[in-house]
Amino acid sequence: MFLDPAGSVTIQRYDDFAFPKASQFTKAQRGAFWIPDEVTLTKDKIDYSRADDASKFIFTQNLLRQTALDSEQGRAPVQIFTPVSSVPEVEAWVQWWSAFEQIHSESYSHIIRNIYQMPSDQFNSIHDTAEIVTMLSGIDKYYSDLHILNCKKALYEKIRAAGESPEFIKFLEVSEHDHVKAVYLALIASYGLEAIRFMVSFCTSLGMVENKLFIGNGNIISLILADELLHTDATAWMINTVIKTDPRFAEIAHECQKEVNDMLLDVVDEEKGWAHYQFKKGTVLGLNEKIMCMQVDWTAQERFKVIGVKYDAGIKSTPLPWMNKHLNTNKTQTALQENESVSYILGSMTTHVEYDRLPNL
Ligand SMILES: [Fe+2]
Ligand SMILES: [Fe+2]
Repeated sequence: MFLDPAGSVTIQRYDDFAFPKASQFTKAQRGAFWIPDEVTLTKDKIDYSRADDASKFIFTQNLLRQTALDSEQGRAPVQIFTPVSSVPEVEAWVQWWSAFEQIHSESYSHIIRNIYQMPSDQFNSIHDTAEIVTMLSGIDKYYSDLHILNCKKALYEKIRAAGESPEFIKFLEVSEHDHVKAVYLALIASYGLEAIRFMVSFCTSLGMVENKLFIGNGNIISLILADELLHTDATAWMINTVIKTDPRFAEIAHECQKEVNDMLLDVVDEEKGWAHYQFKKGTVLGLNEKIMCMQVDWTAQERFKVIGVKYDAGIKSTPLPWMNKHLNTNKTQTALQENESVSYILGSMTTHVEYDRLPNL
């Protein structure tokens, strides 16, 4: 799947898949295309003007953090995983994955532009919020590590091909072991973001909707949530498949067990730290620091085991049962007169026609 010794993808041909599942993820993502401009936020602007200080703070900080996290994810997967993809279907998935993260970034801008009098003040404050900046640098480390190795390898091969002696460019040499390790850890970092950080942040957004607040924002978040659930599944699939199909990754996974564990525990701790920060000015009905920390633990319990990482915080059931209707989106049906339609038909076209079954015209 990644780092085939024969090199990266040359021809984008989609006739014979080594990993058909990757192609299925791409089709599912493409079939769920949407744009934020179709969701109106008029009521949200009124809600914001009438909200108390605590609700304003919780809503705004959550939104700014989501903006920052998707800024990272809106460019990283395509930048770091494309050069190491070995088959066209995985390369295609990585590109569609990133493209949708960029739609998410546009969505947050759409929300901020529509709700705040001075949107630029909100965007500018992201870099001044230590809690967000620290969190971003933790995620960025693993993406940067892989990006640098990708660049070094490309440079080494180019200079080497031009006839330079390997001795003079030894500092650019990248061992296969280090490169495989960087890909693996970047995938785990992605999983921490997709499966835990995004999911926890959506609880705050959708918790507001439970209070009949910021419903337009909630509609956009529901669309983003559906995408992030797909990304969570796809990232888990990539992690599990690469270990199963590539002995180099199986070896690295064994070697990095503690590092992976520590990385994911850091995600849990940071999310709990964020819950403390987010609710420091007060709470909204049904959401507070204690419940959010339990939700972080519950999410970690459920998601970590999918990639073979044990985590048991002793939470026996979901602390936010209403989240289930958002997580099981395929079971949700909304009457058009009650809400804006955000449902799109997937796989509605076919090239297979049974002429005998067509009516005579
Ligand atoms: Fe996203
Ligand atoms: Fe995502």
